[in-house]
Amino acid sequence: MIPLPDDFVVTPWEVSGDVDYDRLVEMFGTQRIGDELTSRLIKHTGEHQTMLRRGIFYSHRDMNLILDDHEKGNGFVMYTGRGPSGHTHLGHMMPWIFTKYLQDKFGVELYFQMTDDEKFLFGPDLTLKDTKNYAYDNALDVIALGFDKSKTRIFLDTEYSHMLYNIAMKVAKKVTFSTTKAVFGFTNSNNIGSIWFTSMQAAPAFLPSVLKEKNIRCLIPCAIDQDPHFRIARDVAEGIGYFKPALIHCKMLPSLAGSDKMSASLPTTSIFTTDSPEQIKKKIGNAFTGGAVSVEEQRQNGGNPDICSVYQYLYYIFEVDDSKLEERRRKCQAGEILCGECKGELTTQVTNFITDHQEKREKAKDVVEDFMLRD
Ligand code: TYM
Repeated sequence: MIPLPDDFVVTPWEVSGDVDYDRLVEMFGTQRIGDELTSRLIKHTGEHQTMLRRGIFYSHRDMNLILDDHEKGNGFVMYTGRGPSGHTHLGHMMPWIFTKYLQDKFGVELYFQMTDDEKFLFGPDLTLKDTKNYAYDNALDVIALGFDKSKTRIFLDTEYSHMLYNIAMKVAKKVTFSTTKAVFGFTNSNNIGSIWFTSMQAAPAFLPSVLKEKNIRCLIPCAIDQDPHFRIARDVAEGIGYFKPALIHCKMLPSLAGSDKMSASLPTTSIFTTDSPEQIKKKIGNAFTGGAVSVEEQRQNGGNPDICSVYQYLYYIFEVDDSKLEERRRKCQAGEILCGECKGELTTQVTNFITDHQEKREKAKDVVEDFMLRD
C-alpha cells in the first residue's frame, strides 16, 4: 500500500482525516499545476477558472501532453465517472463542473463511466439492481449540468460490458495480484471481483482509441482519491498499445462536519442533489464552523475561517468573487460577522443552486437515452 502518514487516509474507497494535499502529490508521484501550465491553460481558455485560481484543481499527470496534442490539432478526449452507491452530493459535482468547463472551452468529447459493478462488489449492502438504479439516477445529475449531448457518452459497466470487457481483459493481463495489493492494500480476504475491478476503471481511458480506431490522448478530471487506479492504467498503457491517460486532480470537498470528505455514507453532513430546502437548511444550520463558544467572545476575538466548513463551501463552490470571499474572511476574523450570517448566506446559495439543478434534473429524464453508449 502507498505509505501514507497516520493522520489521514486517501484511497479510492476511503478518505478520512486532515488530508495534506502537498504530501499527497509527493506520495502519489503527481505534478503540481505550476505557473507554466497555468499560463497555457489561460491561453487556451481565455480565463483563470475559479477552481484553478484557488488551487482546488491543483495536481496533474501529463496535462502538458494534452495541450501539446490540442495545439498540434491531434485533439484529445475526456473521461470521468461515478460509483453509483447513492444519490449524488456536492463533492461529486465539483470535478464534473470543472469537466463541463473544459468541454465548453476545448469542445471535446466526454466518456462518463458508471461503475455499478464496483459499488456492488465493494458495497456489502447494495444489490446489482440498487447500483444500476443509482447509476441512472446519478446520470440525471450529469446531464443536468449541461454537458453537450452530441459530445457526451454515459455508460454502465454492466450494460456496456461487451466492449469494456474486451479492453479490461487486456489491462488485467498486465496487472499482477501483487500490484493491486501494493496499490490498494488488498489482502487475501478481498473478493476476487474487487481485485479485477481496477481493469474496468482503466478500460474507458482506452475506449475512445478503440472506437476511433486511432490513438487519441485521454484526460481524466477527478478528485485525487481516484489517482491510484490510473497509476496502474498508465503503467500498462503503452504495453497494450495506447497513450498513458493524463489526469487533472482536485482536492476533496470536506464534509459539513469540518474534516474528512463529503461522503454519501455520512448523510447528515453531506448535501445531496435530491435534498429539499428544509434538509439543506437543517444540515447547514448544524454545520461545524470556526466560531467561538459565545457571541461575546467571537465579537472580541473573531472566528477562524480556515477550520470552518461553511467558509470552505463558499471557497470551493459558492462564492466565485474573490473580493467578496476575502471580505467575508476579514470580517469573520475581526468578529464583525457571526456564524449565523454565513450559514444563512450559504443556505441561500445552496438552495438556489439545488432548486435550479432539480428542475434541470427533471428535464434530463426525457433525454437520458440520447446520452447512453450501448454495445
Ligand atoms: P465516486 O462516485 O466516489 O466519485 C465521483 C467523482 O467525485 C469525486 N469525489 C469528490 N470530489 C470532491 N470532493 C469530494 N468530497 C468527492 N468525493 C468524490 C471522485 O474523485 C470522482 O471524480 N470509482 C469511481 C467512479 C469512476 C471514476 C472514473 C471517477 C469510474 N471511472 C474516472 C473518476 C474518473 C468512484 O467511485 O467515484
